Amino acid sequence: MSDAEVRAAVERELPGVRADLERLVRIPGVAFDGFDHSHVERSADAVAELLRGCGLQVRIVRSGGQPAVIGTRPAPPGAPTVMLYAHHDVQPVGDRARWESDPFEPVERDGRLYGRGAADDKAGIMAHVAALRAFGDALPVGVVLFVEGEEEYGSESLERLLAEHRDLLAADVIVIADSVNWDVGVPALTTSLRGIVNCFVEIRTLDQAVHSGMFGGAVPDALTTLVRLLATLHDDAGDVAVEGLSVGAGAAVDYPQERFRAEAGLVDGVQLIGTGRITDRIWTRPAVAVIGIDAPPTAEAPNALVPAARAKISVRLAPGDDPKRAYRALQEHLERHLPWGARLDVVAEHAGDPCAIDASGPAFDAARSAFRTAWDGTDAVDIGIGGSIPFIATFQEMFPQAAILVTGVEDPHSRAHGPNESLHLGEFARVCLAEALLLSRLADGTDSVSES
Ligand code: BES
Repeated sequence: MSDAEVRAAVERELPGVRADLERLVRIPGVAFDGFDHSHVERSADAVAELLRGCGLQVRIVRSGGQPAVIGTRPAPPGAPTVMLYAHHDVQPVGDRARWESDPFEPVERDGRLYGRGAADDKAGIMAHVAALRAFGDALPVGVVLFVEGEEEYGSESLERLLAEHRDLLAADVIVIADSVNWDVGVPALTTSLRGIVNCFVEIRTLDQAVHSGMFGGAVPDALTTLVRLLATLHDDAGDVAVEGLSVGAGAAVDYPQERFRAEAGLVDGVQLIGTGRITDRIWTRPAVAVIGIDAPPTAEAPNALVPAARAKISVRLAPGDDPKRAYRALQEHLERHLPWGARLDVVAEHAGDPCAIDASGPAFDAARSAFRTAWDGTDAVDIGIGGSIPFIATFQEMFPQAAILVTGVEDPHSRAHGPNESLHLGEFARVCLAEALLLSRLADGTDSVSES
């Protein structure tokens, strides 16, 4: 198919793709513990049905975790096989009061589709489906669709799934549609991702709560102790103060500060933390954040010393760092800085590898060309992301021959993981077109692509 034919075919499919995206967004499939996992099952079923509709051989697989969907269609003779990855689970919605509309009832406002998962990553699933539908029976490459069901909860069973279905999943090129574009109107290829170490830190200073007037002044309460400990994680400039975490090389592009402040929604007058270029701070250096605290809610707090308090800490690791080593460094830091001889318990949650991708070779050339055409002559920017997709490192190990393309479905205004997540519908149309053009270019460059 010529580029013009691919463009027309994608345009033809977009209304149906949009309707199916909305159907997926209505399914609140959260893989976190404590959520109703029957919704994740329903969302796997819905994805399976979509893939069957594209003429794929489909199976729902699991290995002790949430269901993933694998759909395959063999390559025409001599053509490469492309794995298309996305995930169908979503983040919890958080405080519903902060959503302007029901998170699981998609609505369009100002050219954006609002809803949990509208961007991350149900748009990724539908970009794959759009490309397949555009080609219909004339799909020029082999495909294996791999739609995971627990990415947002750390992909715990993914390694087992990959090992169990390795032959089915083997591909020449892997497209991971779960990242962000550089801006509205500017595509990106993601070439580095940070790793992650999450843990719970519990402080205990007392057997039980005691009167704050009778004992306060001499007995340390657990919450003050915890807060003092957490305050040691950064230096005064806001750089991470945990010794032993790696720092990666700087990126080629920088983020203008004003744009960065606006996109983050930083409150007027609040300073940025850390030193160095913004892209270094958010892509190639570690970051530490306290993402939750269990302590008495203020409305119910009696005048008592808090006996125990717990925080959840999330550390993002620079490309090149090792999560096990980083976890040990964090643990040692907490032990060394523990105030007042308090009792400390550190329990690991998720850990995930960072990764760096060498974005050269024929598959990357094909992607750059497809993106340039889909974005009317605008070149893709190579970016890092501060977020994590830990299994990319696993893919690199398992399929060392495959070129891994990490593509964007979000834009900097998508607010993934936060309230009012949304998808820019104009950009989504380009994302779908870019993916279809990519498949067509990968088929055209069959020999060189398979060698990459
Ligand atoms: N889509 C994100 C990864 C991402 C983050 C892309 C930032 C672009 C910008 C992915 O779904 C995600 O959120 N990953 C988790 C991984 C964790 C659960 C191990 C993350 O980064 O928190």
